[in-house]
Amino acid sequence: MEQYIIRGGTRLYGEVEISGAKNAAVAIIPAALLVQGVCRIENIPQISDTDTLLTILAELGAKVSYVSKSTIEIDCTHASYQDAPYDLMRKIRASYYLIGSMLGRFGSAKTTMPGGCNFGVRPIDQHIKGMRALGAEVDVRGGFVYAEARDGRLHGARIYLDKVSVGATMNIMIAAVLAEGRTVIENAAREPHIVDLANFLNSMGADVRGAGTDTIKINGVESLHGGSYSIIPDQIEAGTYMVAAAATGGEVLITNIIPKHLEGISAKLRETGTSVEEYVEGILVKGPSELRRINLKTMPYPGFPTDMQPQFGVLTCLAKGTSVITEGIYDNRFKYVNELRKMGAEIQVDGRVAVFEGGRRLTGALVHACDLRAGAAMVIAGMAASGETQIEDVNYIERGYERFVEKLNALGADIRVRYDEEDMRQGRLLSSF
Ligand code: EPZ
Repeated sequence: MEQYIIRGGTRLYGEVEISGAKNAAVAIIPAALLVQGVCRIENIPQISDTDTLLTILAELGAKVSYVSKSTIEIDCTHASYQDAPYDLMRKIRASYYLIGSMLGRFGSAKTTMPGGCNFGVRPIDQHIKGMRALGAEVDVRGGFVYAEARDGRLHGARIYLDKVSVGATMNIMIAAVLAEGRTVIENAAREPHIVDLANFLNSMGADVRGAGTDTIKINGVESLHGGSYSIIPDQIEAGTYMVAAAATGGEVLITNIIPKHLEGISAKLRETGTSVEEYVEGILVKGPSELRRINLKTMPYPGFPTDMQPQFGVLTCLAKGTSVITEGIYDNRFKYVNELRKMGAEIQVDGRVAVFEGGRRLTGALVHACDLRAGAAMVIAGMAASGETQIEDVNYIERGYERFVEKLNALGADIRVRYDEEDMRQGRLLSSF
């Protein structure tokens, strides 16, 4: 497995351009299955999760062509219902969007139960509730999800989500756009990527209104036509670089961002004493000489995003004083704390609450990336620490951050990538960006 070798103590300076939003792309690519025609999608992030989904679509008969590294044309005109590469589906969480898109397009779906980052139980009961409300028989057995529209086509329904769920909101939206009649999703999630999915579907001829509010209305249409769409910038990638600038005491201009999507992150960063200024070109973040302690709780958007929690955990280790972080979304998203303790951090965890005794310098150590955002947090910790940090299992990080090491080294970080002997034997030489 690849490793990152990080020499700490470097301040980040310069400019970084943000890529397309992972959590929008991993819903929009499966949604292209609904379209009889060519979807030209721009600003797709080059990450392994999007590669995996494009491969699955191709196995279903889609024609996928790369116009450039980040612009892809997907033609699902001749896609058909058939067995898909279940080993690939099992690797990622977003494979659940194939339930909605296969049901909407073919009237049938067979997928694996989703994979993805493991931080506590991540059920899909709200997804299933939505599909059943739309008129599908849904059965989970042997690790697979089987779904069948009772009379060949889904029917609109009013669906109240028992839990505010990003995935369930988007999956039901995907399934409902070709259903017969009107669907109303109540208690819907409001994340920017949900609005992005609705805008993509509408640009292909769907009729989705109210995305970004807690009530989304969808009038089913007979078919979707091809078109062009550009994915929004990734708010979590942007937030990760903002925290990296603050943690290393650097000064970084982050471009290709939508400031509105970053309001919760910017507000919390300012509380640490970090300067966050919005310009036409982007957001300029300057780390303070001394970080101040904070308290935060993760909430559904527009609250503070859970996907920024581990990164802020690192920041509170560096800030003078005691900080409290409450994880409002997941049961167990503090696994990275053990890795930070190896670097000298003093943290107490009790269920969904973690107390960080900050103000001490972190020291380099051999640590693991426990999941995607925890991995990014460990990179930030390694850059802020004294000495050398080795991070293992970095494949998690590469699922969700485009050219992460390259972009950080361009800002002055000192990160080398080490491939294991197997990779070496297969000719993937030791490389450093
Ligand atoms: C999406 O996951 C994101 N993943 C996650 O980002 C993100 O953390 C999460 O939304 C919250 O913003 C993708 O978009 C691929 P949820 P999702 O359904 O859809 C519970 C990252 O780092 N729940 O909003 O799985 C669930 O257990 C990843 O990019 C149910 O109980 O999240 C959780 O406690 C990590 N039943 C809460 O709701 C369900 O049917 C919110 O989950 C669905 C969810």
